[in-house]
Amino acid sequence: MDRTTVRQVTLPGRRALVRVDFNVPFKDGKVADDTRIKASLPTIRFLSKAGAKVILMSHLGRPKGKPDRAQSLRPVADRLTELLGGSVSFADDCIGPEAEAASRALPDGGVLLLENVRFHAEEEKNDAVFARQLAALGDLFVNDAFGSAHRAHASTEGVTRFLSPSVAGLLMEKELDYLGSALESPARPFVAVLGGSKISGKIDVIHNLLPRVDRLLVGGAMAFTFFRAEGYEVGKSLVEADRVEMARELLHGPGAGKLMLPSDTLAATVLDGSAPVRVVSVSAMPVDLAGGDIGPATAEEFAGILRGARTILWNGPMGVFEVPVFAQGTLAVARALAEATKAGAITVVGGGDSAAAVNQAGLESAVSHVSTGGGASLEFLEGRVLPGVAALTPRP
Ligand code: 3PG
Repeated sequence: MDRTTVRQVTLPGRRALVRVDFNVPFKDGKVADDTRIKASLPTIRFLSKAGAKVILMSHLGRPKGKPDRAQSLRPVADRLTELLGGSVSFADDCIGPEAEAASRALPDGGVLLLENVRFHAEEEKNDAVFARQLAALGDLFVNDAFGSAHRAHASTEGVTRFLSPSVAGLLMEKELDYLGSALESPARPFVAVLGGSKISGKIDVIHNLLPRVDRLLVGGAMAFTFFRAEGYEVGKSLVEADRVEMARELLHGPGAGKLMLPSDTLAATVLDGSAPVRVVSVSAMPVDLAGGDIGPATAEEFAGILRGARTILWNGPMGVFEVPVFAQGTLAVARALAEATKAGAITVVGGGDSAAAVNQAGLESAVSHVSTGGGASLEFLEGRVLPGVAALTPRP
């Protein structure tokens, strides 16, 4: 990590304006999954213990630039209060005289959460006036929102132009260290597992990973676009017709020998769990069936390769894992990661669906790192510069 972090700055008595990613799912007005809130606790506790006044800001959902009660962060302040075991105050707006007064009134070590920054259209426009108003709430800026680091918004990027230093929080540092080391200096063998439905969303990841990995295992519906490129019957499986040529180029391009596709699939006429399921070889797919998961032979093969790896990066499920009958392949990968971790491998799970699958398997603490970023980790794995990281003060 080549950016300054919270460990390297003076904190006592200073107002630390902290961008966190509290974009969490809600159910019946309550936080339904607090993983991201918990992930930011080390930074909040670190700042608070050091005597900083901690002012937290985040977006929640996509409220289209105006206030929307259903997307208020107030319930998050309640959950945070429970998690911290102490009170968290809340400001009804993220800018303005009241928020500013609240930031100054905080005792050293106190915590304040500001209302959803996306209640202002200027946030996503990265408006300079708005960024300056946010900056007025702090004496330094801390970015701990890895999940939003791919957004060049006022609270992630613009604010850094008006606050110095702008440093990384502990979660940001951890995310960049795990993902960055996997890409730059992996222990070998280095194996990546990619899944998900669309090759189009993963093509840049494949291009960036292929020269770095020793093996790249492909599962999920995107495998069928490769099979179509190979001339196989794919039945009713999801295929991106406009990406078949791209898949063919990958299968015959440099590094093709490292690509490994499934040998069998779990198939059914519909993939909602209502139809009988069959194991079929990918070279003998019936025309009326669609693939919903990797088959047992592939799960075994993939797991064997993963068990022998020293570094593993996983992004994207192997099938429709929300439907129990199609969850086995994804769970087999999750278990193989856990076993590899036990044997000393560094295992990193990209955010989004694969993180949800690891949680579903109850294995989140059995792998080295589960990223809190969905889109952000994908962009990082594509080799792109994340604007929220690039804007931080370089390490002295
Ligand atoms: C996420 O959930 O991936 C981040 O919080 C970013 O949210 P966004 O896609 O609405 O910018």
